[in-house]
Amino acid sequence: MSLYAIGDLHLHFQSRLKAPGQLKERVWRDHEARFAKNCAAVMRESDTLVLVGDHSWGRNLSECERDLQYIMDLPGRKVLLRGNHDMFWDAKKTAALNRQFDGRLFFLQNNYFPYRDLAIVGTKGYTFEGPFYLNRRGQVAGWDEREAEHAEKLVERELERLRASFEAARNDGFTRFIMFLHYPPTNILERRSGFTDMAEEYGAEQVVYAHCHGQSRFHDSIEGRFHGIDYRLVSGDYLVWNPARIL
Ligand SMILES: [Fe+2]
Ligand SMILES: [Fe+2]
Repeated sequence: MSLYAIGDLHLHFQSRLKAPGQLKERVWRDHEARFAKNCAAVMRESDTLVLVGDHSWGRNLSECERDLQYIMDLPGRKVLLRGNHDMFWDAKKTAALNRQFDGRLFFLQNNYFPYRDLAIVGTKGYTFEGPFYLNRRGQVAGWDEREAEHAEKLVERELERLRASFEAARNDGFTRFIMFLHYPPTNILERRSGFTDMAEEYGAEQVVYAHCHGQSRFHDSIEGRFHGIDYRLVSGDYLVWNPARIL
Protein backbone atom coordinates (compact mmCIF):
# COMPACT_ATOMS: atom_id res chain seq x y z
CA MET A 1 0.00 0.00 0.00
CA SER A 2 1.77 3.16 -1.23
CA LEU A 3 0.92 6.80 -1.83
CA TYR A 4 1.80 8.32 -5.20
CA ALA A 5 1.31 11.81 -6.66
CA ILE A 6 1.55 13.67 -9.93
CA GLY A 7 0.13 16.97 -11.18
CA ASP A 8 -0.73 18.65 -14.44
CA LEU A 9 -1.85 15.85 -16.71
CA HIS A 10 -3.58 18.55 -18.82
CA LEU A 11 -5.66 15.93 -20.60
CA HIS A 12 -7.47 16.89 -23.77
CA PHE A 13 -9.24 13.82 -25.13
CA GLN A 14 -12.23 16.04 -25.97
CA SER A 15 -10.82 19.55 -25.89
CA ARG A 16 -8.60 21.05 -28.58
CA LEU A 17 -6.92 23.38 -26.10
CA LYS A 18 -3.31 22.66 -25.19
CA ALA A 19 -0.67 24.37 -23.06
CA PRO A 20 2.06 26.14 -25.05
CA GLY A 21 4.60 23.53 -23.88
CA GLN A 22 2.29 20.74 -25.03
CA LEU A 23 2.61 21.98 -28.59
CA LYS A 24 6.38 22.11 -28.82
CA GLU A 25 8.15 20.23 -26.00
CA ARG A 26 9.07 16.62 -26.60
CA VAL A 27 8.12 15.58 -23.04
CA TRP A 28 4.42 16.11 -23.84
CA ARG A 29 4.35 13.75 -26.82
CA ASP A 30 1.89 10.89 -26.11
CA HIS A 31 2.16 11.74 -22.43
CA GLU A 32 -1.21 10.15 -21.59
CA ALA A 33 -0.12 6.75 -22.89
CA ARG A 34 3.29 7.01 -21.23
CA PHE A 35 1.84 7.97 -17.87
CA ALA A 36 -0.75 5.14 -17.94
CA LYS A 37 2.03 2.68 -18.78
CA ASN A 38 4.30 4.01 -16.00
CA CYS A 39 1.45 3.74 -13.45
CA ALA A 40 0.67 0.18 -14.52
CA ALA A 41 4.35 -0.73 -14.05
CA VAL A 42 4.66 0.44 -10.42
CA MET A 43 1.19 0.85 -8.88
CA ARG A 44 -1.19 -1.69 -7.38
CA GLU A 45 -4.94 -1.49 -6.80
CA SER A 46 -4.31 -1.05 -3.06
CA ASP A 47 -2.28 2.15 -3.71
CA THR A 48 -3.52 5.74 -3.70
CA LEU A 49 -2.73 8.34 -6.37
CA VAL A 50 -3.14 12.06 -5.69
CA LEU A 51 -3.61 14.10 -8.87
CA VAL A 52 -2.37 17.55 -7.97
CA GLY A 53 -4.55 19.71 -10.25
CA ASP A 54 -4.77 20.79 -13.91
CA HIS A 55 -6.43 17.54 -14.93
CA SER A 56 -8.26 18.59 -18.05
CA TRP A 57 -8.61 21.32 -20.64
CA GLY A 58 -12.37 20.70 -20.82
CA ARG A 59 -14.42 23.82 -20.08
CA ASN A 60 -17.21 21.91 -18.34
CA LEU A 61 -17.96 18.45 -17.01
CA SER A 62 -19.29 17.07 -20.30
CA GLU A 63 -16.05 18.15 -22.04
CA CYS A 64 -14.06 16.26 -19.37
CA GLU A 65 -15.86 12.92 -19.50
CA ARG A 66 -13.14 11.04 -21.34
CA ASP A 67 -10.38 12.74 -19.34
CA LEU A 68 -12.00 11.73 -16.05
CA GLN A 69 -12.61 8.22 -17.41
CA TYR A 70 -8.87 7.98 -18.22
CA ILE A 71 -8.12 8.95 -14.59
CA MET A 72 -10.66 6.43 -13.25
CA ASP A 73 -9.00 3.71 -15.35
CA LEU A 74 -5.59 4.31 -13.66
CA PRO A 75 -4.70 1.86 -10.86
CA GLY A 76 -5.58 2.51 -7.20
CA ARG A 77 -7.74 5.04 -5.39
CA LYS A 78 -7.68 8.49 -6.98
CA VAL A 79 -7.75 11.79 -5.06
CA LEU A 80 -8.06 14.99 -7.12
CA LEU A 81 -6.99 18.52 -6.17
CA ARG A 82 -8.23 21.62 -8.04
CA GLY A 83 -5.81 23.30 -10.45
CA ASN A 84 -6.11 26.74 -12.01
CA HIS A 85 -7.22 25.18 -15.33
CA ASP A 86 -9.93 22.89 -13.94
CA MET A 87 -12.93 24.81 -15.26
CA PHE A 88 -15.24 21.81 -14.73
CA TRP A 89 -14.80 22.02 -10.95
CA ASP A 90 -16.50 24.91 -9.20
CA ALA A 91 -15.26 24.82 -5.58
CA LYS A 92 -18.85 25.14 -4.34
CA LYS A 93 -19.86 22.02 -6.25
CA THR A 94 -17.28 19.70 -4.67
CA ALA A 95 -19.88 17.82 -2.61
CA ALA A 96 -21.96 17.20 -5.76
CA LEU A 97 -18.88 15.88 -7.61
CA ASN A 98 -18.08 13.58 -4.69
CA ARG A 99 -21.64 12.20 -4.80
CA GLN A 100 -21.53 11.73 -8.58
CA PHE A 101 -18.14 9.95 -8.58
CA ASP A 102 -18.54 8.21 -5.21
CA GLY A 103 -16.19 5.22 -4.94
CA ARG A 104 -14.35 6.14 -8.16
CA LEU A 105 -12.82 9.61 -7.65
CA PHE A 106 -12.42 11.73 -4.51
CA PHE A 107 -12.42 15.53 -4.92
CA LEU A 108 -10.32 17.22 -2.22
CA GLN A 109 -11.66 20.64 -1.19
CA ASN A 110 -12.61 21.73 2.35
CA ASN A 111 -12.39 18.03 3.29
CA TYR A 112 -9.65 15.41 3.64
CA PHE A 113 -8.89 11.87 2.52
CA PRO A 114 -7.69 9.27 5.05
CA TYR A 115 -4.54 7.33 4.22
CA ARG A 116 -3.51 4.84 6.92
CA ASP A 117 -3.13 6.98 10.06
CA LEU A 118 -2.49 10.14 8.01
CA ALA A 119 -4.83 12.69 6.50
CA ILE A 120 -4.33 13.92 2.95
CA VAL A 121 -5.25 17.61 3.10
CA GLY A 122 -4.95 20.41 0.57
CA THR A 123 -6.26 23.17 -1.62
CA LYS A 124 -5.38 24.84 -4.90
CA GLY A 125 -3.27 27.53 -3.24
CA TYR A 126 -2.12 30.65 -5.04
CA THR A 127 1.15 32.39 -5.81
CA PHE A 128 1.74 35.82 -7.31
CA GLU A 129 3.48 35.26 -10.64
CA GLY A 130 4.01 38.86 -11.63
CA PRO A 131 4.35 40.77 -13.81
CA PHE A 132 7.75 41.55 -12.32
CA TYR A 133 9.88 44.43 -13.61
CA LEU A 134 13.58 43.71 -14.02
CA ASN A 135 16.54 46.08 -13.97
CA ARG A 136 19.36 46.00 -16.52
CA ARG A 137 21.08 43.20 -14.61
CA GLY A 138 17.95 41.04 -14.80
CA GLN A 139 17.17 41.46 -11.09
CA VAL A 140 13.61 42.10 -9.88
CA ALA A 141 13.25 45.87 -9.41
CA GLY A 142 9.47 46.00 -8.85
CA TRP A 143 6.16 44.38 -9.68
CA ASP A 144 2.58 45.16 -10.64
CA GLU A 145 1.04 46.50 -7.41
CA ARG A 146 -2.56 45.90 -8.48
CA GLU A 147 -1.88 42.30 -9.44
CA ALA A 148 0.00 41.75 -6.18
CA GLU A 149 -2.94 43.14 -4.17
CA HIS A 150 -5.39 40.91 -6.03
CA ALA A 151 -3.12 37.92 -5.40
CA GLU A 152 -3.17 38.61 -1.66
CA LYS A 153 -6.97 38.25 -1.62
CA LEU A 154 -6.79 34.95 -3.48
CA VAL A 155 -4.11 33.71 -1.09
CA GLU A 156 -6.33 34.58 1.91
CA ARG A 157 -9.26 32.62 0.46
CA GLU A 158 -7.07 29.62 -0.27
CA LEU A 159 -5.62 29.73 3.25
CA GLU A 160 -9.17 29.57 4.65
CA ARG A 161 -9.88 26.54 2.48
CA LEU A 162 -6.65 24.87 3.53
CA ARG A 163 -7.45 25.46 7.20
CA ALA A 164 -10.93 23.93 6.66
CA SER A 165 -9.23 20.84 5.24
CA PHE A 166 -6.79 20.54 8.19
CA GLU A 167 -9.60 21.15 10.71
CA ALA A 168 -11.91 18.54 9.13
CA ALA A 169 -9.13 15.97 9.55
CA ARG A 170 -8.18 17.12 13.04
CA ASN A 171 -11.83 17.00 14.20
CA ASP A 172 -11.85 13.34 13.17
CA GLY A 173 -8.79 12.69 15.32
CA PHE A 174 -5.96 12.87 12.75
CA THR A 175 -2.65 14.28 13.95
CA ARG A 176 -0.43 13.36 10.96
CA PHE A 177 -0.82 15.23 7.68
CA ILE A 178 0.46 15.26 4.11
CA MET A 179 -0.38 18.63 2.53
CA PHE A 180 -1.05 19.16 -1.18
CA LEU A 181 -1.17 22.42 -3.14
CA HIS A 182 -1.56 22.91 -6.87
CA TYR A 183 0.41 26.17 -6.90
CA PRO A 184 3.90 26.25 -5.38
CA PRO A 185 3.86 27.24 -1.69
CA THR A 186 5.91 30.41 -2.32
CA ASN A 187 6.44 32.75 -5.25
CA ILE A 188 9.92 33.44 -6.62
CA LEU A 189 10.45 36.37 -4.23
CA GLU A 190 9.33 34.63 -1.04
CA ARG A 191 11.29 32.45 1.40
CA ARG A 192 8.13 31.55 3.32
CA SER A 193 4.37 32.20 2.99
CA GLY A 194 1.00 31.68 4.70
CA PHE A 195 1.04 28.18 3.20
CA THR A 196 4.42 27.23 4.66
CA ASP A 197 3.34 28.78 7.99
CA MET A 198 0.18 26.65 8.03
CA ALA A 199 2.11 23.51 7.12
CA GLU A 200 4.34 24.20 10.15
CA GLU A 201 1.42 25.11 12.41
CA TYR A 202 -0.28 21.75 11.84
CA GLY A 203 2.97 19.81 11.62
CA ALA A 204 2.52 18.56 8.04
CA GLU A 205 5.17 15.97 7.20
CA GLN A 206 5.35 16.80 3.52
CA VAL A 207 4.15 19.56 1.21
CA VAL A 208 3.58 18.38 -2.35
CA TYR A 209 2.86 20.84 -5.18
CA ALA A 210 2.71 21.07 -8.97
CA HIS A 211 1.85 23.80 -11.56
CA CYS A 212 5.47 24.59 -12.54
CA HIS A 213 6.14 23.70 -16.17
CA GLY A 214 9.38 23.74 -18.14
CA GLN A 215 13.04 23.81 -17.06
CA SER A 216 12.95 27.54 -16.34
CA ARG A 217 10.12 27.15 -13.76
CA PHE A 218 10.91 23.84 -12.03
CA HIS A 219 12.91 25.49 -9.26
CA ASP A 220 10.63 28.49 -8.55
CA SER A 221 9.81 27.42 -4.98
CA ILE A 222 11.01 25.38 -1.99
CA GLU A 223 12.48 21.94 -2.68
CA GLY A 224 13.74 19.47 -0.10
CA ARG A 225 13.76 19.96 3.67
CA PHE A 226 12.68 23.33 5.08
CA HIS A 227 11.84 23.86 8.81
CA GLY A 228 11.48 20.09 9.26
CA ILE A 229 9.06 19.57 6.34
CA ASP A 230 9.84 17.90 3.00
CA TYR A 231 8.79 19.98 -0.03
CA ARG A 232 8.42 18.34 -3.41
CA LEU A 233 7.41 19.36 -6.93
CA VAL A 234 5.38 16.74 -8.82
CA SER A 235 4.27 18.40 -12.06
CA GLY A 236 4.04 15.71 -14.72
CA ASP A 237 6.57 17.12 -17.18
CA TYR A 238 9.07 17.49 -14.29
CA LEU A 239 8.55 13.81 -13.36
CA VAL A 240 8.60 12.82 -17.07
CA TRP A 241 5.24 11.11 -16.37
CA ASN A 242 6.44 8.80 -13.61
CA PRO A 243 4.17 8.96 -10.54
CA ALA A 244 6.19 10.18 -7.53
CA ARG A 245 6.16 7.87 -4.52
CA ILE A 246 5.27 10.02 -1.52
CA LEU A 247 4.97 7.25 1.11
FE1 LIG B 1 -0.40 23.05 -15.28
FE1 LIG C 1 -1.52 25.15 -12.99
